[in-house]
Amino acid sequence: MLAAMSFQWWRDAVIYQVYPRSFADSNGDGIGDLAGITSHLDDLVDLGVDAVWISPFFTSPQRDAGYDVSDYCDVDPVFGTLADADALIHGAHERGLRVIFDLVPNHSSSDHPWFQDALRAAPGSAARARYIFREGRGDHGELPPNNWQSIFGGPMWTRVTEADGTSGQWYLHIFDSSQPDFDWTNPDVHALFLDVLRFWLDRNVDGFRVDVAHGLMKQPGLPDLDEPDSASLGAGTATLEPEISTPTEVPYWGQESVHEIYRDWRRLLDTYPGERVLVAEAWVDPLSRLADWVRPDEMHQAFNFAYLETPWAAGPLTQIIDASLATFHSVGAPSTWVLSNHDVVRHATRLALPFENPQGHGIGPATDNLPDEKAALQRARAATALMLALPGSAYIYQGEELGLPEAIDLPDEARQDPTWIRTNGERYGRDGCRVPLPWTAERATFGFNENGTGKSWLPQPTQWARLARDAQRSDDTSTLALYRQLLALRKELQLGTGELQWLDCPREDVLVFRNGRAVIVVNTGREPIEIPESELLISSSPIDGAVLPGDTTVWLRA
Ligand code: NOJ
Repeated sequence: MLAAMSFQWWRDAVIYQVYPRSFADSNGDGIGDLAGITSHLDDLVDLGVDAVWISPFFTSPQRDAGYDVSDYCDVDPVFGTLADADALIHGAHERGLRVIFDLVPNHSSSDHPWFQDALRAAPGSAARARYIFREGRGDHGELPPNNWQSIFGGPMWTRVTEADGTSGQWYLHIFDSSQPDFDWTNPDVHALFLDVLRFWLDRNVDGFRVDVAHGLMKQPGLPDLDEPDSASLGAGTATLEPEISTPTEVPYWGQESVHEIYRDWRRLLDTYPGERVLVAEAWVDPLSRLADWVRPDEMHQAFNFAYLETPWAAGPLTQIIDASLATFHSVGAPSTWVLSNHDVVRHATRLALPFENPQGHGIGPATDNLPDEKAALQRARAATALMLALPGSAYIYQGEELGLPEAIDLPDEARQDPTWIRTNGERYGRDGCRVPLPWTAERATFGFNENGTGKSWLPQPTQWARLARDAQRSDDTSTLALYRQLLALRKELQLGTGELQWLDCPREDVLVFRNGRAVIVVNTGREPIEIPESELLISSSPIDGAVLPGDTTVWLRA
């Protein structure tokens, strides 16, 4: 049962992200579902996490894997029923796990009844005012209203055909054309989402991860961008969503007015018992601005994407850890830490890439210079051992506890990410981090579907047999064993609520710090280094005596 006394449980929680279509498939249709999650809750308890965040499973045509919602208060038949959602919440609570759902308020699916009404209604009508419809530019309105480019490629606007058959207005979509943006200056939209929040809070969900939490408000007038291409890709980087440094620099990210929405939601959440939480997915830069999302009367946590984007190097890691702790603490929030999710190249591959982080653009068969998998996994294990030693709350993405690498060799025809489709294959997109999990080495789909139909919505690499959960369970040196031990020790030593103190360090590529009763040494370099004589609590890779090899982290008794 949930601990009654778990004061501010989210401050040091380890939260496991489930990407439902790829977690476990109970009915054999090749797509994971809610019943599949419920049947594996014991595995998550065994792993040692505190909470589960579940990516969207609401009614949706699945054009962006469920981030295109057509009914926020029901479950898509692909994933099950409302009763399955209730059973999942109940089953998790019985086991002491909290449950966070994914709320997608920036846009709906184009199948949402409101958008269908808007399409049928006339320009200027109340139905159109719930979304962002505008006249086009050019003599006949044939040009998009401004020069913004969709995050998934192509224009951020799509033109509609009016009821009389003529080409008409354009609507805005930051993402795919099947994901029209709501107009958050419209009170109807506020009312809708307050109802949605209440609906799930009444069903006892413990909180919400808020999708694109920096995008809901747009700068009035929707001004052109000076450099539309660089804005949609981020300044010199290929982030899924661009970095910004001032609220008005990119007119659809991080507008000041967005915060009032979260204050409103926070007031609602605080009327419910049991510390319900809001978590911002906000790709804003610098960190000091991200802290605005987690002020005491707004959200509880924000994903620390700056940490995820930090290369595997002691200097940048020291800086981001210091900056994160200082910045989040300045507003009374815990720092969060994350290395992988369903939008980025898995860190068991990414941290060893010899080129700039490709982020949501992905990598694939034509990508050169891919790292050696074994060496890359050693580095990823060291990175996880560092992350789980830091004070604050950490996120784990399904499959990283198995050491899954990015799936590189997906056939073109299997790819489903709208990024791949909208860029005509120029960008691979995110399918490589979304391949269904291997549970059982010897079974069809490695046990992803439980009745052995052999269906899997994305093909699994054959080499994943050795990474299957059952194969790792009996192996003390497996990545699964490492995660279990790290999580158990983190809890025992209370590292999540601890304080970090840097210790002198003999080399520039090595980090040494103390957190409570543990000293953590991280060798990000290649050369081995001697470590102090002290009781070894855990090592991310096998070590020989007091010599720490490269790409290895140890926790020592302080
Ligand atoms: C961020 C989500 O994590 C991503 O998967 C999705 O495509 C976009 N937001 C649009 O909802």
